[in-house]
Amino acid sequence: MEAADVVAQAARELRQRLPTVPCLATVLGSGLGGLAEALEEPVSVSFDELPGLPSATVAGHGGRFVGGRLDGVAVLLQCGRVHGYEGATAEQIVTPVRILASLGVETLLITNAAGGVRPGLAPGDLVLINDQIDLTFRPLSTAAPTPGAARSERLGDPFDRVVSGAIRDAARDCGVPLGGGTYAGLHGPSYETRAEIRMLARMGVDVVGMSTVSEVAAARAAGLRVAAISLVTNLATGLSPEALAHEDVLAVGSAAAGRLTRILGAAIPRLEPSSQSTGAK
Ligand code: HPA
Repeated sequence: MEAADVVAQAARELRQRLPTVPCLATVLGSGLGGLAEALEEPVSVSFDELPGLPSATVAGHGGRFVGGRLDGVAVLLQCGRVHGYEGATAEQIVTPVRILASLGVETLLITNAAGGVRPGLAPGDLVLINDQIDLTFRPLSTAAPTPGAARSERLGDPFDRVVSGAIRDAARDCGVPLGGGTYAGLHGPSYETRAEIRMLARMGVDVVGMSTVSEVAAARAAGLRVAAISLVTNLATGLSPEALAHEDVLAVGSAAAGRLTRILGAAIPRLEPSSQSTGAK
């Protein structure tokens, strides 16, 4: 079956399972899935139950969509994602996003864990991503299901100002500090070398991670409006006296995830019905 047909079939199956088709979806990175517990009438569909999604061995376990309502607003959560460093291809990484687009989702809020590159950032900080640099060297193929996807001009201004503004307003109302910055996506799985971090800092990078950039490219190609938030789980290599430990990254993630969940919980009801997009559709 063609990739586009598989995506359409997965979207059909998901539509049958969900009580309502949401206009809005959120990609929750690992350790950031707490929002699922806040959903009213949740319906969970595991990645394994849908065609086209990489098997659990590639995806890591636990990838699932959870549909439900937040303050009455229908929302679909993508809990977990696949990464290039797990062996997934660019097309596999963006398949969940393409399924969301095929389902009719119009707005996508992406979250990730990231290392802080800009001086002054600290573990636990939240950063609203206002631009991105794709250093994964993982282009989406020209055979992408969305016509023109590989050459989409919508990536010139990837993050929607209205959606990002709603998130900023939500953070302010929740009393949660939220800065802004540029995200660089690298392939991983190793954290960067000191020299790579010096290079990224000179390039104007504020936060660095191993996800998001391909998802944003695919979502923009499909015409979705996109906003994204990084949770700074650690200072990037060389910026802290202690060596980076994966366990520390996870611990900070779970402690700060509650604040990110509060922001999303406050932002989502503001985003429905869908307000005017500022990005080219
Ligand atoms: N580098 C890359 N990815 C990350 C980091 C980092 O320092 N922290 C969390 N994800």
